[in-house]
Amino acid sequence: MTRILVLYYSSYGHVRALAEAEAEGARSVPGTHVDLRLVPETVPEDIRQKVGFAQDETPVAAPADLESYDAIIFGTPTLFGMMAGQMKSFLDQAGGLWARNALVGKVAAVFTSTGSQHGGHEATLLSTQIPLQHFGMLIAGMPYTFAGQTTAEGIVGGAPYGAGTIAGADGSRAPTETDLAGARFQGAHVARIAGRLAGANLQVEAA
Ligand SMILES: Cc1cc2nc3c(=O)[nH]c(=O)nc-3n(C[C@H](O)[C@H](O)[C@H](O)COP(=O)(O)O)c2cc1C
Repeated sequence: MTRILVLYYSSYGHVRALAEAEAEGARSVPGTHVDLRLVPETVPEDIRQKVGFAQDETPVAAPADLESYDAIIFGTPTLFGMMAGQMKSFLDQAGGLWARNALVGKVAAVFTSTGSQHGGHEATLLSTQIPLQHFGMLIAGMPYTFAGQTTAEGIVGGAPYGAGTIAGADGSRAPTETDLAGARFQGAHVARIAGRLAGANLQVEAA
């Protein structure tokens, strides 16, 4: 089985909805096992309740878990034009994996939810890929074979760099069917690539 992890952080549920669509897409590829996991929360419980964060019973991942997957799909809201601190903190704790080249050659993909169309949607998709390239991961985007991203009718999330949705300034806008289809497409795309690479030893030792 090709092992895929969909790892995400979400305060208000938009990224979670996309994460479930990514997992659904990955599971649609035969021979694929998919786990859905959260990165640990850093906001205190009393603040979470005060600002109305959504409850999420999805199991929490530890950085060491990453090594056991063939591909990891990372989901984060856009916060101040980049990934959430919760996700960055999680990646910063994976230094031991970096030191052992443990993630080299694994497939990675990114998706996001952003409040406004031009509030950092593509910047988040691209900048989240930077640490993943430091790990030596191979980045899979959301290619134009997902034609839904080419429409100029209405608001559409996502880009060639990854799937996405636009939550609206007050977070009241749910992911559209096109946005969810993009996430499912990306999940299946990652699973197919990871399946092809399974068994390839890309962790070449340093010369
Ligand atoms: C602290 C904070 C910073 C944010 N920064 C941005 C931003 O830079 N650009 C933007 O368009 N939306 C921004 N937002 C809105 C979030 O992107 C939006 O709430 C998020 O996409 C919802 O995802 P979630 O439901 O999975 O938490 C911000 C929200 C918070 C709470």
